[in-house]
Amino acid sequence: MYPATQPPRAIRELPDELISQIAAGEVVERPASVVRELVDNALDAGATQITLRLLAGGVRLISVEDNGLGIPANELPVALKRHATSKITSLTELESVGTMGFRGEALAAIQSVSELSVLSRTAAQDSAMLLDGRSGELQPAARAQGTTVEVKELFYSTPARRKFLKTDNTELAHCVEAVRRHALTRPEVGFAIWHEGKLVEQWRAQTIDAASDEDRNTQYQRSLDRRLADVLGDDFLDNSVAVHYQSGNVTVVGRAGIPDASRSRADHQFAYVNGRYVRDKVITHAARSAYEDVLHGHRQPIYALYVEIEPTRVDVNVHPTKIEVRFRDGREVHQAVRHAVENALAVPRANMLMASALQNHELPMTGTFGSGGAASGTSTLGATASPAWPNANWQQATMPLAGTRVADVGALWQSTPRSGLPAEEHPTQSFATDAVFNALSANHTSAPSLQDAAPETWPLGKAIAQLHGVYILAENTQGLVLVDMHAAHERIVYEQLKTQIDTQRISSQPLLIPATFPAIAQEVATAEACADALQELGLEISTLSSKTLAVRAVPSTLAQGDAVALARSVLAELSQHDASTVVQRARNELLATMACHGAVRANRKLTIDEMNGLLRQMEVTERSDQCNHGRPTWRQLSMRELDALFLRGR
Ligand SMILES: Nc1ncnc2c1ncn2[C@@H]1O[C@H](COP(=O)(O)OP(=O)(O)O)[C@@H](O)[C@H]1O
Ligand SMILES: [Mg+2]
Repeated sequence: MYPATQPPRAIRELPDELISQIAAGEVVERPASVVRELVDNALDAGATQITLRLLAGGVRLISVEDNGLGIPANELPVALKRHATSKITSLTELESVGTMGFRGEALAAIQSVSELSVLSRTAAQDSAMLLDGRSGELQPAARAQGTTVEVKELFYSTPARRKFLKTDNTELAHCVEAVRRHALTRPEVGFAIWHEGKLVEQWRAQTIDAASDEDRNTQYQRSLDRRLADVLGDDFLDNSVAVHYQSGNVTVVGRAGIPDASRSRADHQFAYVNGRYVRDKVITHAARSAYEDVLHGHRQPIYALYVEIEPTRVDVNVHPTKIEVRFRDGREVHQAVRHAVENALAVPRANMLMASALQNHELPMTGTFGSGGAASGTSTLGATASPAWPNANWQQATMPLAGTRVADVGALWQSTPRSGLPAEEHPTQSFATDAVFNALSANHTSAPSLQDAAPETWPLGKAIAQLHGVYILAENTQGLVLVDMHAAHERIVYEQLKTQIDTQRISSQPLLIPATFPAIAQEVATAEACADALQELGLEISTLSSKTLAVRAVPSTLAQGDAVALARSVLAELSQHDASTVVQRARNELLATMACHGAVRANRKLTIDEMNGLLRQMEVTERSDQCNHGRPTWRQLSMRELDALFLRGR
């Protein structure tokens, strides 16, 4: 039953206190929301050290102490008023706001649901002043420059809210998380968190020395890396690669976790826009899609991404807590983030490790390394509100092989001898890849000169043996490398097909003798309906009868594989899609299916030269650390790990 309609009452303006309490509902959900707002304010005031003290998960007390500019005594009462702010004065300023706050409602909202006091002192004052929010009483007190805001008994006046709070430990965890989000974007600020008198977390300020010769961005990068390691653990740093990307209006820096470091939950995904932590669908989706090709669908990547964009191109005033933003052009941000992460992940990891070894002079430099250009669109990053990273040093530091892109490798494949003969005429070579291996091992002149580089600098090492027809064993400076040869080769073929379809089309090779096979009705129908799509994929399949199909051409890359098996699986996949758009939408799945057919099978004996050919190919193939299904293609066993197996050196 609906309640009976109430008798009409006069329209009245709500009292101020009630307005604030209603507004508080949007801003202050739990202690962590208060923490976020107060830390925002401290950062806006230029603090370099922020200390948070909590009692009972923040419900009994939240105190945030900073060494920022302070609030002049005469402005203290104003600070607690609704819509009172020192941060903007006009709509124009709102559109290019660089501070965390600007709505002027946090202190008012918090005060309406707690007992709030503010103790503050500016540089110009002889003593600090303490304002009691309840009574409005203002009195002198002792304090160095800066501000302490104390919030006691949160939600004491709104018991309904208080009931929604969880245990102290849960609320504490949320408060820590709120500070962590700030800490990850402000390495130059020190943070300490105390709970019930015990130090819970402490992240020291990373100094950025203005007088230093070193580029400010380089310093910032280093301090950010150190902060990421402090806050998220050394593992985060060890298992992630640097992201640097600039395109048009958008700059993306930060770190992207390697696929191996993925987690079952999305709890290590941090995204920032102009220094502000955000939860944004565009960025999340873009990052996710950058991992599409290297990660199992249900795994969650880890990353910390910092997007810098001209303030007028993003609206931060979408949500009272400012955790959501709206981009003027979501597509440009999506593309930038996606490319930034994709490019960072594309570089084979062994090369990076080798590069840093070279950089640290652990290995001799050879002529072939360090000559490559940049893989991604980076450019000089200006000093913006929160500084971005530089590019010049970084390229040398981490990407010596990045210049050798898949496109170059394509030359290798193109130059493989192509007999165009059907498989039967190559009784010992059942895969096109044999020809590729041969070309590689023969030190082809058009090949990138990796082969000529000193073997001790080969990131994936020198092949020494094949194990049970499945694994390649190789020796590199760190120790033993184990490679899953089918998985690795599958990725190489896949990347090659992708490059071909991107740059022109998949080059196709006619079979001298068409491979005919008995087909079911659906296969015949698909072959006819999808002739164009098949052609795009480098396949030509014609109908001989209502029950027979003939493969007339296959992609050159896969020329000596089993043409019928290839045709059958591509037809099976095509039949599930709408013919006209399938190649755009299901491009990668289709190419992956094809690559699987083209990749060297387990149990095929490889010569040492062929194995080395495959290893060198991996080193210059993007994303070669993962197979097409997101599994790793190689593992390193270091000498230390091997020694540990034998209890050596103890
Ligand atoms: N820790 C602080 N240090 C210096 N000034 C502060 C601090 N906290 C609040 N203020 C002042 O109080 C004003 C109101 O704060 P707040 O209600 O959070 O609104 P906003 O941050 O949106 O301006 C701020 O604009 C600022 O001038
Ligand atoms: Mg604020």
